[in-house]
Amino acid sequence: MGKILIFEHTSVLGYKMKRILEQNGFQNVELIKDYNRTNLNQSQPGQRPDCVIVDLDNRKQDMIQLIRKIKKETYDAPVISISGASDLSTLKKAIGAGCREFVLKPFESETLVSKVYKVYYEGQRVTDNNESFKMGEFFKGNAISLKWSDDFAIGIEQIDSEHKQIFEHFNRLYSMMREGHGHEYYQELLGFLADYVNTHFEHEEEYQLSVSFQEYQKHKEHHDKFRERIKEIMESHTDQDISDNDLISISLFIKDWLIHHILLEDMKLKEIVKFV
Ligand SMILES: [Fe+2]
Ligand SMILES: [Fe+2]
Repeated sequence: MGKILIFEHTSVLGYKMKRILEQNGFQNVELIKDYNRTNLNQSQPGQRPDCVIVDLDNRKQDMIQLIRKIKKETYDAPVISISGASDLSTLKKAIGAGCREFVLKPFESETLVSKVYKVYYEGQRVTDNNESFKMGEFFKGNAISLKWSDDFAIGIEQIDSEHKQIFEHFNRLYSMMREGHGHEYYQELLGFLADYVNTHFEHEEEYQLSVSFQEYQKHKEHHDKFRERIKEIMESHTDQDISDNDLISISLFIKDWLIHHILLEDMKLKEIVKFV
């Protein structure tokens, strides 16, 4: 599996991130503490890192300049910045320098892993078309599965049971993929998701309106993005020829949904339910 560079001046955090990624199937992770190292440009375009992680919190270095250097010398490898500061101007500059994703400290292992999978897989789609990214490699190590826990319950029976359903579908796909298959399940899964983005999202939106949820509009925009993405996936698969990459792509999409939408956004409803 691909190469990941971590620019982290703090050993503790650097080794922690390296370990997390290795435990999740990334076997080629290099930690770089010397930011002035100049041999990044020795790679050929085909050998560029698949992802570069940069810790922005280093006052001794111009980190924006470092991101520019990395982008230039790694043939535009995707960069993920991590930061403990919510300093918007720095984050904007990092985006301007070419940073693709952010992880805010303190972060959970799953947040880091899902961001790396996301940029890694997006890169594979662009450069490899489909052949070199195999499920066996994807699941080497301990790629994370996500089990439902009552901690995820919001307290609205219908919505909780619908959330459980998507966890179940994800885990079913995950266990099939671990065994090297799941292609035969793809269409059924897409059918479920297409239905889910209508019924489940509608249930949530109706509830939010009924309690005048302040973030309704923002939440609905997230839902609309999922609806749009599912529509795109449906439209791009009229045939039965399901590749490993299709399975990996849909599994990453659902995992991102579970982690970032259900566990972060939908959980905001839990606070409201307590007072209704
Ligand atoms: Fe939801
Ligand atoms: Fe939602």
